[in-house]
Amino acid sequence: MKKMRNHDITDDSLIENIDKLHTTKMGEERIIRNLKLQIEDVVLWCKEAVKSADIIIGQGKNSYVYKAGVVITINTHSHTIITAHKLNAKIHNIQEAEYECLPEFLYQAIFIPKGMELPPREIIKDPEIFIYIKDFGKQEGDLGVVAEQNGQIIGAAWTRIIPAFGHISDEIPELAISILPELRGFGIGTKLMRKLFATLRANGYQRTSLSVQKDNPALHFYKRLGYEITDEKADHVGHGDYIMIKEL
Ligand SMILES: CC(C)(COP(=O)(O)OP(=O)(O)OC[C@H]1O[C@@H](n2cnc3c(N)ncnc32)[C@H](O)[C@@H]1OP(=O)(O)O)[C@@H](O)C(=O)NCCC(=O)NCCS
Repeated sequence: MKKMRNHDITDDSLIENIDKLHTTKMGEERIIRNLKLQIEDVVLWCKEAVKSADIIIGQGKNSYVYKAGVVITINTHSHTIITAHKLNAKIHNIQEAEYECLPEFLYQAIFIPKGMELPPREIIKDPEIFIYIKDFGKQEGDLGVVAEQNGQIIGAAWTRIIPAFGHISDEIPELAISILPELRGFGIGTKLMRKLFATLRANGYQRTSLSVQKDNPALHFYKRLGYEITDEKADHVGHGDYIMIKEL
């Protein structure tokens, strides 16, 4: 389980007070209905989810417990389990006030092969990486979308026309995308991409490009979304990358 930066940290207190968790009759019915559960003890089920949560994010008066694609909302002070439902992130075009999330999602977009240590966060200051977000919003082709769940941005996808790894031409914005690590594989990336394609089309673009390391599982994700390999090259640290293009 991981604590979320820049938000109230409530996961420890939730675990410490796990015996105090309770719900109302309405809460119980809501959770059973939303998740189509066939269980006797909803509170016990929620307690187990809290103990083995993928991530717990404290926001305002609530804690949001994420477990296997389900979000449980708990009032942090009264320890009342309010509801639980499947991840249902809302996707919208990125607003200027949300640009501050880009450093986090740029960092999360860096491919780390299994078993490799996470790089230091300062890695994004490397000019070859920072170019993906530097002064975002000021140039043509700076378009983006974010996924929001319970008031928290959990994923972002954006494009730029920049001389970066996946640059093909000045008419083809290059894409970057990432989802918080604990929330990958639940369809959020697919939703973000579909919305971003629509935004790109609405802004008159006909193609979009990207670069992806050959051994990144995201390669299959991109192929499924209609990207085709157009070139191969070594990136600045010598990894083999595919350059991919998608007709919008
Ligand atoms: C790639 C990524 C944006 C996809 O978003 P997502 O919400 O996990 O994607 P979805 O649930 O809609 O689709 C899952 C697909 O992503 C792939 N995937 C890539 N990395 C994954 C991961 N760590 N966990 C789960 N799925 C992953 C799956 O193989 C699956 O592929 P498929 O389309 O062939 O079935 C997301 O997994 C991610 O942030 N990965 C790390 C950052 C990254 O590699 N960015 C791209 C840099 S070029």
